[in-house]
Amino acid sequence: MCGIVGCLGFKNPREYVLNGLKTLDYRGYDSAGVAYYNDGIRIYKDVGAVEHLMELVPQDIKTDIMIGHTRWATHGVPNVANTHPHISKHKKICLVHNGVIENYEDVKKFLIGKHYDFYGDTDSEIVANLIEHYYLSENDILDALKKCMFVLKGSYALAIICNDYPDEMFVMKNGSPLVIGKGDGFNFVASDASPMIKYTDAFIELNDQEYGRITKTNVDIYDANGVKVTKKLIKKDIESISHDLKGYPHYMLKEIEEIPQTIKRLLETYVKDGKYTFDESLLNKLRESDHIMFIACGTSYHSSLVGGRYFEHYGKSTSKYIASEWAFDPVFPGNKPFIILISQSGETADLIHCLKIIKEHNLKNLIITNTGGSTLDRNCMYSLLLHSGVEVSVASTKAYVAQVTLLAMLAASLSKDTKLIDDLTDSLDVIYDIQDHYKPLIMKVADEIKDKKNLFYLGRSFDYFLSLEASLKLKEISYIHSEAIPGGELKHGPIALIEKGIPVIVFITDPETAPSMRGNIEEVKSRGAKVYTIATKSLSRPEDTIMVEDYAYYLSSVAVSSIAFYLAYYVALAKGLNVDKPRNLAKSVTVE
Ligand code: AGP
Repeated sequence: MCGIVGCLGFKNPREYVLNGLKTLDYRGYDSAGVAYYNDGIRIYKDVGAVEHLMELVPQDIKTDIMIGHTRWATHGVPNVANTHPHISKHKKICLVHNGVIENYEDVKKFLIGKHYDFYGDTDSEIVANLIEHYYLSENDILDALKKCMFVLKGSYALAIICNDYPDEMFVMKNGSPLVIGKGDGFNFVASDASPMIKYTDAFIELNDQEYGRITKTNVDIYDANGVKVTKKLIKKDIESISHDLKGYPHYMLKEIEEIPQTIKRLLETYVKDGKYTFDESLLNKLRESDHIMFIACGTSYHSSLVGGRYFEHYGKSTSKYIASEWAFDPVFPGNKPFIILISQSGETADLIHCLKIIKEHNLKNLIITNTGGSTLDRNCMYSLLLHSGVEVSVASTKAYVAQVTLLAMLAASLSKDTKLIDDLTDSLDVIYDIQDHYKPLIMKVADEIKDKKNLFYLGRSFDYFLSLEASLKLKEISYIHSEAIPGGELKHGPIALIEKGIPVIVFITDPETAPSMRGNIEEVKSRGAKVYTIATKSLSRPEDTIMVEDYAYYLSSVAVSSIAFYLAYYVALAKGLNVDKPRNLAKSVTVE
């Protein structure tokens, strides 16, 4: 995880670096720091979020070069010593790092043999010292970087300043993202383009195993053999990477309310004149395969459960795997599997590990991601973008709905089934209705459950898949222990946990499963549970908590997931928690 920024020649480096770190703090917020050159390298850093760092960094900094970092702790607890930037023993090299160095223990031993010692526990401090060691022996900073690239195993995006080159910044990348923003007489670096869009729309994306030198006016990038590479300037569309809160108090609320727009954009992108526009070669590969495997993590895994069911509906055999589980015991069902990876960020390390295995087996693959230019987008055989706009809140909402929507469209396009398009369009009214009329009711439920320690979600079939996601959302941001249980499984064990006053939230939106769900409600009520029901109008009873307009039942993750998202949001708000940045988490999980 972690976010890095840097600038050279920019008129207000403090503003760019600190605001840039705020923009990137969705990548981690355990601690933050900056370094700049002014007659030597100066560092300010502390535990806590960027807001705190802003109070520490002097207003009147005079410098042409500055780097900054916001950290999600991997190696070493969040304390000042482990906070970036890190400086080498002889104060030559100062750097910020995003990634994980796998062989840091070996490198550390090597450096101890060279009389290096360390003030903290991070792998990043070791990288600073390794660069310094090679710099002092090679006498050339670029040669030192090349050598380090050869030695270091693992992932890194590095922005480096050197005491002997006050007008130059150095970069190095493998596995973790790093983007350069080109300005007129100034240049930037950052983990993604969002901190830079206010100042430039021209970007250079570094590939793995590349390093280079940046000045105010130049960018020189080299491959692992030291050969200079010609980099393309990429123009980015500002709207798609904007982190503007647009008047909302939190990103999560903004992103929930962007759900209808997200569905509409997918319909506009992948349907023309009533027909799907997916790449025929992709559709043929999917048709030819005898088994479709889905691999993902967290929320994206939940969307694969729904999506997998859609493909099964069109006659495909499927299996769904959690990336971190599959990576350590890879199985390949069928004779000709096709693999669909799903990732909002496109940077999830567990999934990148899976892709490596998939490639070793030469298997056809597709990534469904919200992040064009991400590692998975660049390295998968096919890529379909979610076009949801950047999702900042750690709790994924609009991207989940977008994933399910896109999977439904892709599955339906295999059989040229266009009824889905009407069903999706109809579901928009259900979502708008929830946004316009149900928030006060959801807030009331939030208030009733906010002090509970445990809670259950119940559903069957598509409502069960939605329950899984609803439950993850609630635990993630409200810290209430929550579990999703398929209605029929209650009696096989979980019912033992039902006791007086425990909240049980039930989805009843599927005509097939509604009668059994009503039976489940009686079972938990008779054991003292406080039941809240979310039902579609045609299946509802007067005692239900929330009754929503009818929709095609198989779209519950699209049409009524907003209720679950609002509920998690309002519970966290009522508890006074940090909605967008829940404890211990980060938006993109770039460590395994
Ligand atoms: C979602 O609310 C979570 N923060 C998390 O489970 C997330 O979905 C997971 O880390 C996968 O991320 P990805 O979609 O970016 O790969």
